Amino acid sequence: MEESVTITDNRSGQSIEIPIVDGGVSAEQWSKLLPGVWFYDPAFMTTAAAESAITFVDGEKGILEYRGYPIEQLTEQSSYLEVAYLLLNGELPTADQLEQWVTEITYHTFIHENMRNRFLEGFKYDAHPMGILVSAIAALSTYYPEAKDIFDPAIRHKQIIRLVAKMPTLAAAAHRYSVGMPFVYPDSSLDFSSNFLSMVCKATETRYEANPKLTHALDALFILHADHEQNCSTAAMRVVGSSHVDPYSACAAACAALYGPLHGGANEAVIRMLSEIGSLDNVPDFVRAMKAGHGRLQGFGHRVYKNYDPRAKIIRNIAYEVFEVTGKNPLLDIALRLEEVALADEYFISRKLYPNVDFYSGLIYQAMGFPVEMFPVLFAVPRVIGWLAHWVEMIEHNTKIARPRQLFVGSPRRDYVPMSAR
Ligand code: CMC
Repeated sequence: MEESVTITDNRSGQSIEIPIVDGGVSAEQWSKLLPGVWFYDPAFMTTAAAESAITFVDGEKGILEYRGYPIEQLTEQSSYLEVAYLLLNGELPTADQLEQWVTEITYHTFIHENMRNRFLEGFKYDAHPMGILVSAIAALSTYYPEAKDIFDPAIRHKQIIRLVAKMPTLAAAAHRYSVGMPFVYPDSSLDFSSNFLSMVCKATETRYEANPKLTHALDALFILHADHEQNCSTAAMRVVGSSHVDPYSACAAACAALYGPLHGGANEAVIRMLSEIGSLDNVPDFVRAMKAGHGRLQGFGHRVYKNYDPRAKIIRNIAYEVFEVTGKNPLLDIALRLEEVALADEYFISRKLYPNVDFYSGLIYQAMGFPVEMFPVLFAVPRVIGWLAHWVEMIEHNTKIARPRQLFVGSPRRDYVPMSAR
């Protein structure tokens, strides 16, 4: 028997049977029976806003796959740029395709000189790098006005290459500016992650040689952050992109969504929380306070994962590899104890709250020398390909403009009251 649901309108006694397809029921069918009756679902808790073939998440089992490939295998065996190709195109590249993709991206890493010395340098001396990044991405649309032609696949491809290529350059520039260091130009002889570290860290040396273990760790972190299906920033990308604006403007909106402490800003909050806890002895009291409603355990919990976030597991292992080079982050022990205490506590067990991707990533970034303000920026650099893959998918599906309904609960019609009568 076909899986379906039957909905009955008790006002009229009419029923409609709606098939369950790919785990969902069509709202279009629902509207045939109930025109003008809307689903009330403010945070999209039970709404599938898209059909997507990009990323699969099983939150109950803790599974994450990009285009069918398990995240564990990709972080172990692939590279960020190869994964970016996969997310965008649906298949792993051949050697020739990968070479062309990497060459194209390497060629486009430079930003317009005017953007560097007029736009970026116009920010206040202590500007938050994420604020700079959001604005810089939006500003790119003014450099590439042809990007408006979003229905031309060749033009779309060019903007995707530009965005993937320029994100590390803009991110590094935002960081260097915010710490008062001069801009470092991209080095086309370096791979993606080594080039990023060079633009971030280079001082007086002629050529910056990043430690290969750190490059490898950063590349793996980039893979882990590349996409995560319909998260807040990707949803923002789809909603804004559905108005057919250019991809730079849509990416800037997505990046702004990522800035929030409930999304990409959580790893920054984790470091602040661990520093505030200060010592192992304070962990139980801290957890007690959380349970009593004093804030949240940052880096814990997830809308989709009701099990250990598979990315957190991988990141915890990467942390040990990084600490071999940088020395252990002293906050690690507090994080491990916090995890241990929380995972044994009924409050967290009953609500299925586990460490998420942000719980350990901040410890790595901090050990690598990044200031906390850079953490969401480090999330945004690789996530841009996720935003773009979803944007292309949406355009190719010819999705209509996103326009939710509301349940109006305000005042009924009334007459304007002149000031003298109020
Ligand atoms: N610490 C303590 N309690 C929590 C936490 C937490 N981190 N997260 C959820 N809860 C409790 C919450 O109080 C609620 O309890 P009750 O049912 O008694 O009211 C219950 O768990 C369900 O929480 P919710 O707020 O309804 O869950 P949500 O799906 O709306 O929120 C979340 C998901 C990620 C926003 C939330 O877990 C949270 O605020 N976590 C801390 C911030 C964080 O780590 N964010 C990074 C998310 S992963 C990266 C990304 O995808 O961007």
